[in-house]
Amino acid sequence: MHQRGVIIQGSSRSEGNTNIISKYIQEKTGFDIIDLKSKNISSFDYDFNNQGDDFMPLMREIVDNYDTLIFATPVYWYSMSGIMKNFFDRISDCLKIEKDTGRKLRGKSMGMISCGSDSELKEGFEMSFIESANYLGMHYLGSIHTWLENEQVSDSLQKEINTFIKKL
Ligand SMILES: Cc1cc2nc3c(=O)[nH]c(=O)nc-3n(C[C@H](O)[C@H](O)[C@H](O)COP(=O)(O)O)c2cc1C
Repeated sequence: MHQRGVIIQGSSRSEGNTNIISKYIQEKTGFDIIDLKSKNISSFDYDFNNQGDDFMPLMREIVDNYDTLIFATPVYWYSMSGIMKNFFDRISDCLKIEKDTGRKLRGKSMGMISCGSDSELKEGFEMSFIESANYLGMHYLGSIHTWLENEQVSDSLQKEINTFIKKL
């Protein structure tokens, strides 16, 4: 399989700030972008009555095509977005009813991009990504926190992003 990367974008607006950052990183890396907002992915259901939605086909596409998964999420209330959290919750489907797909995550790499309005990211934000990578047997590549000034990626942030990209 070809080494390929994908940015999994979890913003509540497809062309918002997280997308500006995702596109900047896409330009530098050639990674694809998957916009979770454009998918129909419902919240986790213990009865798995949501198997007709877009989650499982999307997950199969991801595990079959990509080795590096970069989760790009806005900061909403000090946490990842609800759209992103639903996606993570649904990974439980792969562990319970489609185990082969879940197992394919093992050995892949995960990174994380946060996008807030504040230059500071509160302690603890990254924990769920690090621990999820651990649980899934994925290699955690690290993260970068971003914020925009007048919808622009500042020179200093560009430098930080470029350093992050080298780790991918
Ligand atoms: C519901 C909501 C909650 C937010 N909570 C935070 C927050 O806790 N910390 C922060 O720095 N920014 C917060 N923001 C600001 C967004 O993180 C910021 O505007 C981000 O760039 C939005 O990215 P988006 O355009 O992709 O949604 C919040 C925005 C929304 C809509």
